Amino acid sequence: MRVLTLAGSLRAGSLNARLLREAARLAPPDLSFEAWERLDELPHFSPERDIDPPPEPVADLRRRIQTAEALLFCTPEYIHAMPAVLKNLLEWVVSSGVCVGKPVAAWSASPSPEGGAKAQASLAHTLEVMSARVVPEASLCLTLAASSLDADGRLADPAQVARVEAALRALAAAGTP
Ligand SMILES: Cc1cc2nc3c(=O)[nH]c(=O)nc-3n(C[C@H](O)[C@H](O)[C@H](O)COP(=O)(O)O)c2cc1C
Repeated sequence: MRVLTLAGSLRAGSLNARLLREAARLAPPDLSFEAWERLDELPHFSPERDIDPPPEPVADLRRRIQTAEALLFCTPEYIHAMPAVLKNLLEWVVSSGVCVGKPVAAWSASPSPEGGAKAQASLAHTLEVMSARVVPEASLCLTLAASSLDADGRLADPAQVARVEAALRALAAAGTP
C-alpha cells in the first residue's frame, strides 16, 4: 500500500515531519512511504486561482494524492486548531475530489500533554467533510518534544513506538480489501 505523508508544518526542524520519517521506518512491510514536502510552495488558496491548469505545486499535490492508496497527515496544533498552511493545502485539494474515499490517518504531535488533540480533531473533521475515509483506529495524538527523538530521529519511548506501530497497522488494515 503506497502511503503519501503530509506534515502540517513549515519549520525546518518540525517534530511532525520528523515523526513522519520515523513512521516510515516503523511501518509494516506492506506499507511504502512517499513524503510530500512542498507545503511552502503552495500559493494562498482563492477560488479565482483554482483554474485549469492549476499552479504547478497544486497539480503535483493533487496527482500524488490521486495515485497514493492512503494518506498520512501529521499536524501541529496552532491556537487549538490545525495551522493555516495545512488548511490552505486542504482548500486546494477539496475541489479536485482526489481525497474522496481515500483511507486517511490523521495524526497530531505537540509538546502539550494532549499531543495536539484539538488540531487532530479539526484535521479529521475537515477530511471527513471532504469525504475522505478517516480511519479512527489509525488516529494518533502524540506528546512529542525535541527530546522525544534521538539524534537519528528515532523515537526513544517504547510506549510511543507501540502506539505509532498500532496506528500504522490500522491504516494498513483499512486498505485491505
Ligand atoms: C503560533 C503557535 C501556536 C501554538 N498553539 C498551540 C496550541 O494551541 N496547542 C499546542 O499544543 N501547542 C501549540 N503550539 C506549540 C506547537 O504545537 C509546537 O511548537 C509544535 O512543536 C509545532 O510543530 P512542529 O515542530 O512540527 O513545527 C503553538 C505554537 C505556535 C508557534
